[in-house]
Amino acid sequence: MLFVGVDLGTSSVKLVLMDENGNIIKIASREYPLYFPKTGWSEQNPADWWNGFVTGMEELTKDINKDDIRGISFGGQMHGLVILDEDDNVLRPAILWNDGRTGKECDYYNKTIGREKISELTGNMAFTGFTAPKLLWLKNNEPEIFGKISKIMLPKDYLAYRLSGVHCTDVSDASGMLLFDVKNKCWSEEMCELTGIKSSMLAKIFESYEAVGNILPSVAEELGLSKDVLIVAGAGDNAAGAVGTGTLGHGMCSVSLGTSGTVFISTNDYAVDPNNTMHTFAHADGKYHFLGCMLSAASSNKWWMDEIIGTKDYAGEQSKIEKLGENSVYYLPYLMGERTPHNNANARGVFAGLSLNTSRADMTLAVLEGVSYALRDSIEIARSLGIEISRIRVLGGGAKSPLWCRILANVMNVSVDRINCEEGPGYGAAILAAVGCGVYENVQAAADKFIYVTDTIEPDSVLVEKYEKRYQVFKSIYPALVPVFDKIVETE
Ligand code: XUL
Repeated sequence: MLFVGVDLGTSSVKLVLMDENGNIIKIASREYPLYFPKTGWSEQNPADWWNGFVTGMEELTKDINKDDIRGISFGGQMHGLVILDEDDNVLRPAILWNDGRTGKECDYYNKTIGREKISELTGNMAFTGFTAPKLLWLKNNEPEIFGKISKIMLPKDYLAYRLSGVHCTDVSDASGMLLFDVKNKCWSEEMCELTGIKSSMLAKIFESYEAVGNILPSVAEELGLSKDVLIVAGAGDNAAGAVGTGTLGHGMCSVSLGTSGTVFISTNDYAVDPNNTMHTFAHADGKYHFLGCMLSAASSNKWWMDEIIGTKDYAGEQSKIEKLGENSVYYLPYLMGERTPHNNANARGVFAGLSLNTSRADMTLAVLEGVSYALRDSIEIARSLGIEISRIRVLGGGAKSPLWCRILANVMNVSVDRINCEEGPGYGAAILAAVGCGVYENVQAAADKFIYVTDTIEPDSVLVEKYEKRYQVFKSIYPALVPVFDKIVETE
């Protein structure tokens, strides 16, 4: 028996083929463009996702007996707005999770209606990347398109819809729409009214491990798959990644160094951060989680390496870094504005502390450290809520760097566990497919069987102390620059 996990990311779609024992048989991926029509805007074409999925599937399945594939599931970039008209045409490019155009609309929810009220209805406050503010933005700025909306869906659910014909979503991804009552796991009629949409435009809700239906016969034929293949709802990429790292049950923490950087804490029960700085979302194992999300994590490093210093040799650049804990250069990773903890779409990237002594290696290190400090901001919020975090599991492209993992361990003062599988959301999605097909009783049982820690990077008390001082400096830079960021944006 084989299962396909689809990680619909921001830079590429990655397909993971897994057998029923959790072994990865093959991986295929396809990149697609990301569009920035204006500073702070971020869009993608759903057709590119579908084409990437179809051509990726051809590669993934070319040397296997395709009849062995039993289920397909997803981990998808969250919050993106995909809208279809009544003939199922995509009405405009999807507006993504890291798009910052909805400042005014967020003010409407958080200030005019009131943060407490929105939090009572959804478990969260409005952030620019969330889905409902994007709908309000469309209503205010593209009313003709808004008037044609028949179906509203999230990125991975667009793939599920094309595969199954079922307009579906799952509880974890729905949680990030600001239209979902996370506590009771149902759509909030009141939020739909405030946003000016009908709840009939929204998808049917499933738990992440539930099958939504069979693959459509026409699509099964196109992909050469059996008509019995089950399409399983899947999860937002962070919840799917948490499944893929075994971050399940109560009080476990994982940190993702992907395009975004996230701190994910699994919880048995529903609970809300009184300041709403951490998100409260449903988890893919049927429970809940807290999430802190920074917008430019591994993408900061990619930007620095690819665009600025012009190299693809990330490991080579990092090997020139000699000492940790002594860098006087600081980097604020706010290339797309920032979500946790600042909730400020006007924030921008900054290097501070440069001198004639500054080397290229210092700046490369500053980028890795700046992202780590920004992630520590989320860890500190969780600690202030009484959650003890002494170890984390790491995932995402950045986790492949032993240096970055060491920096994280010392900046956060935690043990960093690396696990046997690095494929986070894609692997988690394949596990959800196996559970949805009934091969495992529940998500925890599958994860217990497949996932284990391979090595641990312990913090070093001398470095922890050095980084503590530097983290305090990092923290002082953003507040000093807030008025400057506003002025920069005024002149953009
Ligand atoms: C989470 C978030 C990001 C995206 C990235 O709230 O916005 O992690 O899911 O794909």
